[in-house]
Amino acid sequence: MIRVMEKKDLPEVLKLENDLFPESPWPKEEFIYEMNSNPFSFLFVEESGGVIRGFVDYWIMYENAQLVNIGVRRDCMRQGIGRKLLNCCIEQAEIAGCEYLSLEVRKSNTPAIRLYESAGFLTAADRKNYYEDGEDAWLMVKPLEVRYDTDTGN
Ligand SMILES: CC(C)(COP(=O)(O)OP(=O)(O)OC[C@H]1O[C@@H](n2cnc3c(N)ncnc32)[C@H](O)[C@@H]1OP(=O)(O)O)[C@@H](O)C(=O)NCCC(=O)NCCS
Repeated sequence: MIRVMEKKDLPEVLKLENDLFPESPWPKEEFIYEMNSNPFSFLFVEESGGVIRGFVDYWIMYENAQLVNIGVRRDCMRQGIGRKLLNCCIEQAEIAGCEYLSLEVRKSNTPAIRLYESAGFLTAADRKNYYEDGEDAWLMVKPLEVRYDTDTGN
């Protein structure tokens, strides 16, 4: 089940973040800011049997949406959870009327790049020295579909 991340999820999500991004994990304060203070941010977790198996953080900023963080527990990878979280983000951005969803990804991160490509993301630009360790990133973009509100017809 995918649900909104709550304060009680912080320890598990932080553990996951530290495991997946040991060289530059988001600190606790970053997650708290995203949950409580950033007006553009949406943080969701994927939970099964009381275990958090993944999370996604994205921003919806007027016509633009941006995927800023996504991760799946190592022992739960390759089971479709990353795709489910990404689809949740795409769906919410389309409902919000965003025109496109963008993200940056390390050039060496083949699993993530494959996931994004299979979801319709296109490589839009080369971001040189994007990460603190000097690695380049690809800027990837997915054009979104307009969804109409069936209640109002808008
Ligand atoms: C990227 C990540 C979120 C994918 O999550 P996941 O739950 O394992 O992905 P899914 O099972 O939904 O896979 C969906 C598709 O992604 C691609 N993919 C995922 N892992 C892959 C791998 N190791 N090698 C190649 N392709 C891969 C495949 O196309 C896959 O479809 P398939 O299984 O039908 O072939 C996960 O690997 C992760 O948490 N990585 C560490 C954190 C990270 O790098 N986040 C992204 C930062 S930009």
